[in-house]
Amino acid sequence: MRLLVTGGAGFIGANFVRLTLSHRPDVSVTVLDLLTYAGNTASLPEDPRVTLVKGDIADAEMVDALVREADAVVHFAAESHNDNSLDDPWPFVHTNLVGTFQLLEAARRHRVRFHHVSTDEVYGDLPLEGGERFTPDTPYNPSSPYSSTKAGSDLMVRAWVRSFGLEATISNCSNNYGPFQHVEKFIPRQITNLIDGVRPKLYGAGLNVRDWIHVDDHNRAVWTILESGRIGETYLIGADGEVDNRTVIETILELTGHEPTDYDHVADRPGHDLRYAIDATRLREELGWEPVYPDFRAGLAATIDWYRAHEAWWRPQKLETELRYQRLGR
Ligand SMILES: NC(=O)c1ccc[n+]([C@@H]2O[C@H](COP(=O)([O-])OP(=O)(O)OC[C@H]3O[C@@H](n4cnc5c(N)ncnc54)[C@H](O)[C@@H]3O)[C@@H](O)[C@H]2O)c1
Repeated sequence: MRLLVTGGAGFIGANFVRLTLSHRPDVSVTVLDLLTYAGNTASLPEDPRVTLVKGDIADAEMVDALVREADAVVHFAAESHNDNSLDDPWPFVHTNLVGTFQLLEAARRHRVRFHHVSTDEVYGDLPLEGGERFTPDTPYNPSSPYSSTKAGSDLMVRAWVRSFGLEATISNCSNNYGPFQHVEKFIPRQITNLIDGVRPKLYGAGLNVRDWIHVDDHNRAVWTILESGRIGETYLIGADGEVDNRTVIETILELTGHEPTDYDHVADRPGHDLRYAIDATRLREELGWEPVYPDFRAGLAATIDWYRAHEAWWRPQKLETELRYQRLGR
């Protein structure tokens, strides 16, 4: 099987490639990645079954040639950082909308199976109180340029299934953590700040709740959907990992031998979503998926160990990321 993995040099895509190589000897992978600041060739294993093509998913000609050669496309490539989307929304429109459009058109022309990786942020947020959770029927209500462009890309996939008979599935996943995540993101930023002796920063009061899932559990679910998912269906991926941001910081501090109160508050960002929570019943009951890492604290401890052991991987991103946060006042 020949897989085209877009965004395979990013956090989740690179973990997906690694998981695929270790579990699927029958699969070879072509990674199409623009290698933006978020893409890192050092995240990809050196393996004869992996070919890296540097290119833009919005480049129609290149996309056509690569999709034509593939048995299936797994589409991770995106501009993915909310903070950046508030600073400059255009790259989000270009990659998340125009790029997805070019991929869909190529998959339609060559009748290639397509899996679209998306986020639960398309649903907006939930009240902090009450046990409501997102389901595949929750209306779209995105808050940021990031989530609105992902929402638009999801809707295009649905329309291409209905209008053109494209063989596609969609997954909307909650917040991922694990190895190879860029240090701009919440958990790796706190871990690497602590390694550097810098006090962690928390947006507002930190009551915002995220539903955390280990990246390998996300990627196992993507494989399950790719192989057994119903065409045209949307599957929500989550591992019942609801934790508020303050607790995440306090747990990281505790796991690294600090006082749990050793952190600073910074101003909350505009439109910061309150709570996300996923109801993954369809994925669990219909496709039999279960998380391998149901315990967030244990997954976090393993992730801290990974960042401690892989400073050579994250160090080159660190200074520039913190300078950018300084410019944005965060
Ligand atoms: N990180 C999360 O918690 C999370 C949760 C749910 C869904 N998702 C979705 O999963 C996917 C991957 O997220 P991630 O966290 O790995 O993102 P990431 O930012 O770490 O990686 C994105 C990758 O896409 C590449 N890319 C960007 N623009 C491109 C373009 N125009 N052409 C080709 N490649 C391009 C980048 O170079 C990078 O390698 C995204 O679609 C995101 O919306 C992420």
